Amino acid sequence: VTTPAALRRVAHHLVWSLGLQELVFRARERRLAQTRAKPLQEAGDANLPPPLLRVRVCGHPDPYWFLDGAQRTITEFDGVLRTTGGGFAETRAVLDLGCGCGRLARWLPGPPERLTGLDIDPELVGWCTENLAGTYGVTPLNAPIAAPDGRFDLVYACSVITHLRRTTAQACLTDVARVLQPGGRALITFHDERHRDAPPVAEALARDGFAVRFDSLEGSNLLASFVTLQTLIELAAPALTLLTAVPSDETVFGQAIAVFGKPAAASA
Ligand SMILES: C[S@@+](CC[C@H](N)C(=O)[O-])C[C@H]1O[C@@H](n2cnc3c(N)ncnc32)[C@H](O)[C@@H]1O
Repeated sequence: VTTPAALRRVAHHLVWSLGLQELVFRARERRLAQTRAKPLQEAGDANLPPPLLRVRVCGHPDPYWFLDGAQRTITEFDGVLRTTGGGFAETRAVLDLGCGCGRLARWLPGPPERLTGLDIDPELVGWCTENLAGTYGVTPLNAPIAAPDGRFDLVYACSVITHLRRTTAQACLTDVARVLQPGGRALITFHDERHRDAPPVAEALARDGFAVRFDSLEGSNLLASFVTLQTLIELAAPALTLLTAVPSDETVFGQAIAVFGKPAAASA
């Protein structure tokens, strides 16, 4: 008997063995973007990015999730940051690394002039520049991040290293430390071993501390990487040290959250 699951496995195998996964992934994004969304009555004049840009960052076009989910996430990040120092409102210069189409940036508490958003995707950056307060720019997939040394006292990267291979993630974390001032903090979200999508890579994750599913189109939502907290700490060291962490099954956002600190400069 051929089950739908078996057919899906065969189709998946065919697509990947013919090297068509990136084409199929982008076509799926375009199809998802055409999904009929619920009318946005409550959100009023929400200045939403077009559906395809929402799909590119969230995996689906639902405007409520785009708006409400992001607001809840920023509130959660703020709470976690407060356990290690001030919240968003107490920061001086903030980098939203992998800002996408400003899903989180639009809810950031405090004056928007202090926000910089960087992303590898020029179309997402272009939408932010035209529609949101703050400064936005394109940055390369591989470090260095397009920002000067010591520019920020807070960097947050929400669901970004979750789409990077190990060496890229390590270089990215090291470079996050470069753009932070001494004593600055970095909030990084990641898929840990307790994430709901981790079971297929559980063995590799336990063995190597890092594992990748759908290893293609790095930086996009196609590639999903998983890392244990211990390995994340090792990848970030010595430039950053862990201040606190919350496992994925204890967060509202659904990914694990770690806050790292850049050691303050030694006093003379
Ligand atoms: C899943 S989306 C999340 C976007 C946004 N942080 C949010 O929560 O809505 C991941 C984003 O990271 C961007 N990205 C991937 N690799 C990056 C890198 N090395 N540096 C900066 N941005 C990156 C992607 O283009 C994409 O916009």
